[in-house]
Amino acid sequence: MQSRLVVATHNSHKTEEIREIVGSFFEEILDLNDFPEIPEAVEDGTTFEENSAIKAFAASAMLTNAFILADDSGLEVDALDGAPGVYSARYGGEKATDADNRKRLLEELGKTGAKGKSRSGRFRCVLTVVKADRKLAVFSGSCEGILANEEKGEGGFGYDPLFIPDGYCETFGQLASEVKHELSHRGKALALFSDWLRQQDSK
Ligand code: IMP
Repeated sequence: MQSRLVVATHNSHKTEEIREIVGSFFEEILDLNDFPEIPEAVEDGTTFEENSAIKAFAASAMLTNAFILADDSGLEVDALDGAPGVYSARYGGEKATDADNRKRLLEELGKTGAKGKSRSGRFRCVLTVVKADRKLAVFSGSCEGILANEEKGEGGFGYDPLFIPDGYCETFGQLASEVKHELSHRGKALALFSDWLRQQDSK
């Protein structure tokens, strides 16, 4: 198996979660913050699958022969017809912070008047594995839940303080990271990646 994995992201929260879940398979896991010469990929796809592939191949073009994992993820809210979806990172504006994105989400949901179970939604994650310009595998995961009326909890990142996974009363911002990893879109996709890595090892 590969000793080094490069995650095609500048989002160190994602990289940290990936390290926590698949860290034992690699000697080191780096991300694009370790390669400042690599520009941000233009995520102009309309699906998580497309954007995940775009990010993986953009990194692969710059890091010839590296073992690359790209994560494209986001939140779909039913009362907002699936928004913010692939635009989750930029929902509050082009240079939006996580706090800006959460603020806009609460505003837009407020306008719909949706309450309780009608504030349903899901996180989605698509992982693409590429090496030497070849797509080796794609894994997806999703996690259903409802959107809280206000932010709760300091943990996680992005929309975590607003997302209550089905079967729980707390947000991902309040739940322990181990619990998030068991339930989350990324945790589920990474569990499939782990199975795939084990299969590669046994070949
Ligand atoms: P991407 O870099 O285009 O994949 O952006 C993903 C965006 O979706 C992030 O900036 C977050 O706003 C949101 N997101 C993805 N995964 C999570 C998560 O696990 N928790 C909270 N927000 C997430």
